[in-house]
Amino acid sequence: MQSAAWYITLISVISLIGVFYFVISNSKVKEEYSSFSKAWYGVRGKWFIFLIILWVTLLIITLKPFPLPSQTENYSDKGDQIIDVSGHQWYWVMSSDTVVIDKPVVFQVTTGDVNHGFGVYNEKLELVAQVQAMPGYTNKLVYTFTQPGKYRILCLEYCGVAHHGMIGELNVKES
Ligand code: CUA
Repeated sequence: MQSAAWYITLISVISLIGVFYFVISNSKVKEEYSSFSKAWYGVRGKWFIFLIILWVTLLIITLKPFPLPSQTENYSDKGDQIIDVSGHQWYWVMSSDTVVIDKPVVFQVTTGDVNHGFGVYNEKLELVAQVQAMPGYTNKLVYTFTQPGKYRILCLEYCGVAHHGMIGELNVKES
């Protein structure tokens, strides 16, 4: 695999040198540009418009499922499961450690000291949701669990010598 990558890189670099050599060696030859440039300026204008439309479309498609929920909404009115979370050097304080599946969980996350990263991991230690824990702010994270199990809370931002020891537990149960 590595030697294949090496040969592909080598061939690409040699081809690139060939292209450069061709362009440089032909750059002294004078050509009639006006007819040529007129046609290509038209193409360039259309290409530019195409790129703008593509950019706006991709922006809308990729931002629509934006993972951050409304930070101003009062979730306690909606009957969601709410957990207040506070990060500290080096432990998590959570108002509850048990939730049920198929119903949104609202984590209201802050910290008592420095910045921490609130990361929720499933039993395979895959990150399923995360939000920054910041002093003086409460960041809201809304996540609906679909699989029951023992989830782990790990810290995602280096916060001192025992950063790796900031481990919490969250029990996700069948509803
Ligand atoms: Cu808290 Cu790293």
